[in-house]
Amino acid sequence: MAEKKFTIQSFKNAKKQGRRVSVLTAYDYTMARLLDQAGVDCLLVGDSLAMVMLGYENTLQVTMDDMIHHTKAVARGNQKALLIGDMPFMSYHVSIDEAVRNAGRFVKEAGAHAVKLEGSQNVADKIRAIIKAQIPVIGHLGLTPQSVNAFGGFKIQGKDIEAAHRMIDDALLLQDTGVSAIVLECVPDLLAKKITETVDIPTIGIGAGVHCDGQVLVIHDLLGLYPDMRPKFVKTYDTQAGRVITAVKKYIEEVSSGQFPAKEHTFAMDPQLSSKL
Ligand code: KIV
Repeated sequence: MAEKKFTIQSFKNAKKQGRRVSVLTAYDYTMARLLDQAGVDCLLVGDSLAMVMLGYENTLQVTMDDMIHHTKAVARGNQKALLIGDMPFMSYHVSIDEAVRNAGRFVKEAGAHAVKLEGSQNVADKIRAIIKAQIPVIGHLGLTPQSVNAFGGFKIQGKDIEAAHRMIDDALLLQDTGVSAIVLECVPDLLAKKITETVDIPTIGIGAGVHCDGQVLVIHDLLGLYPDMRPKFVKTYDTQAGRVITAVKKYIEEVSSGQFPAKEHTFAMDPQLSSKL
């Protein structure tokens, strides 16, 4: 649990000390405040906001402006966690200049401490340039959702031996570019273990088993707020969707019956004034 600020340096210390890192997504001020208060190490403004906040089918349509808007809100609610902004699809693919400029927006406009982006060889030149601009980068391998069309769906990655070796090489390349940690998504647990033992930087797993140096979950999945998709790797610690519906049904009933608002929710008028109304 984060008692003091978790910084980019804390990743290295955590791996050295064998202390597992907790990461959760957040997209707004109120949730960021609660998660930070609970002591999570890192808040990720994931491009998953496309799905869980904006209702898109996948993450591809979310824009830089959407991401900046939500990252600013999370920054206002955060005090101690490391705040990571997720670079959206096509914000770092076209050119090195554009990648650095967009990464800079997360830090300068929105108050992020680091950015995350997907890929390895295909974006290594962009990662190096962003790090050269003094912006820490988190890598992301395995089921990288921005490649959903190239993968032909949301599928576990690294299942055959060639793909597994390629992923180990990709992790080593990411380490060489200078990334501070690597997210491993939907990867068989023993491959994640091998990568975790091979690199000096922490691995943060999501659907990658227990051997990673840390874990990340989408907050809507953890709270049971997004029933549209429930991957095998998600543990729902609460079932809030049902509780929200029950509470709202009660509100509708009480509005309809006149039970709400009651006296305690009402501003009374001075009787002398009300007689003159
Ligand atoms: O967008 C996101 O929420 C992510 C995490 C699930 C790693 O990339």
